[in-house]
Amino acid sequence: MAPKHSDPWKLVIPAPRRCTVDLEAEGFSLPEVVTLFSDAEGGSEVIQAALPRIDRICQGTVYRWKRAADAAPAAVRLTPGDVEEGHYELAVTSAGVTVRAGGTAGFSAGLATVVQAVLLLDHGQTVLPAVTILDHPAYPWRGFMVDVARHFLPMESLHRVLDVVWLLRLNRFHLHLTDDQGWRLPVSAYPLLTDVGGWRSDCTSEGGRYGGFYSAGELRELDSDAAALGITVVPEIDLPGHASAAITAYPQIGCSREVPGVETRWGIFPAVISPVSQAARDFIRTVFAAATEVFQGPYIHVGGDEVMTESWASLTSEAGQEDQLYQQIVRFMTETVLELGRVPLVWDEASRLDLPRDTIILNWREPEFAGAALERGYRIVLCPQARRTYLDHKHRDTPLEAGRLSVCTVHDSSRYEPLLYVREALGPDLPGADRVLGGQGNLWTEGVRFHSEVEYMGYLRLAAISEGLWTGTPGAAAWSEGFRERLEWWRGRMIASGVNVYPGAMEA
Ligand code: ACM
Repeated sequence: MAPKHSDPWKLVIPAPRRCTVDLEAEGFSLPEVVTLFSDAEGGSEVIQAALPRIDRICQGTVYRWKRAADAAPAAVRLTPGDVEEGHYELAVTSAGVTVRAGGTAGFSAGLATVVQAVLLLDHGQTVLPAVTILDHPAYPWRGFMVDVARHFLPMESLHRVLDVVWLLRLNRFHLHLTDDQGWRLPVSAYPLLTDVGGWRSDCTSEGGRYGGFYSAGELRELDSDAAALGITVVPEIDLPGHASAAITAYPQIGCSREVPGVETRWGIFPAVISPVSQAARDFIRTVFAAATEVFQGPYIHVGGDEVMTESWASLTSEAGQEDQLYQQIVRFMTETVLELGRVPLVWDEASRLDLPRDTIILNWREPEFAGAALERGYRIVLCPQARRTYLDHKHRDTPLEAGRLSVCTVHDSSRYEPLLYVREALGPDLPGADRVLGGQGNLWTEGVRFHSEVEYMGYLRLAAISEGLWTGTPGAAAWSEGFRERLEWWRGRMIASGVNVYPGAMEA
């Protein structure tokens, strides 16, 4: 006999760890207005920050979500439980939905699971099947990076990206705020960073210039919405390389008095901050301090990638000393972040340096560099560019597909699980494996100009990546036995909500 209800719980991405569904039980008849209530610390804030996101996400459904005035009639209750931080318990009975957690992260993840299940109900099915879920993430760092420097995304776009970060139970939203082609972070002591560095020549734009920047207030609001959902915004100020925009605004922080111009090309450029000048050090300290006034999370990413150290040749008396200057300046940047009470992050080029051991390394190159960073005692986050987590790459290897530099299919992203990835390359005995914090998808935007393109490039592969980060098992391990179908459902529901998700083939 067919079960009474179809099962949306088995379609949720990432999959909850322990999920016991009873399709014969009555389940909960969803009212068209789904009310939410919390009597727990952090729970009300989760509801407050989630409601506008649920409205956007659930546009394609008949349900409207609303805060309940008091506990009695609420359809969904977030309530305190004796549950470990970050974990949650979810129960659906005929009486309603209860999420128990010990704090913000658990409530936020539990509510995201409920919303996805409602989104994934069969058309016409109004009963949420009875379930008991016990769930927690495999990795503490589950992120998504968006580059807002190469193309400037309006704040409305970042809020919509945050919707999806939340829905996939990710907990880090990394903003790449500065690069050669634009500076997007306001710093009151250096107004030209945004007034000059925020804009570049562009013959395809009205008036021949392209750019933009955020206000401190806008960024604070995004940051506090994210924090209310247990999501940490990680601001990145990419120095000492990728600094053409900054040096154009303030040439005294560069190595010569030349003004490079805010870059109009993509690539790696010789405009590099001076590692020896007091002006550059004052600049770094002031800019990082400004970031701490906008972002409340514990991290500041200082970049450190793709530095043309040749630009420093004139500052050294002997050949080969540029590396010492690289060491000096990145050490200064990381120590400055620590002095400000935050944890520094750097890209993995800098992991060969002797930096404070609290520094977290983002490994984007080959796994050998991750192994070396672990050997040196660093904690690492893995976001490999090679066919896993670089979401600016094409979904398929055809000249008709959007994207650049390389190919990363949805199936490739589904193969991603951080420890599996490094162990496949370096062997099962990985010293320091407990210092692998997790991973993230990265969306560079040289070829991504509009929000709809963020959706297209990002959302399907990010869902694929989230599975390995949350469950510790890559989605591809069950590709034909269900994961592919779950991605199809995710895609279908995104499209129904008006999202421009990639519609094409998931394999090469
Ligand atoms: C990077 O892709 N340059 C971090």
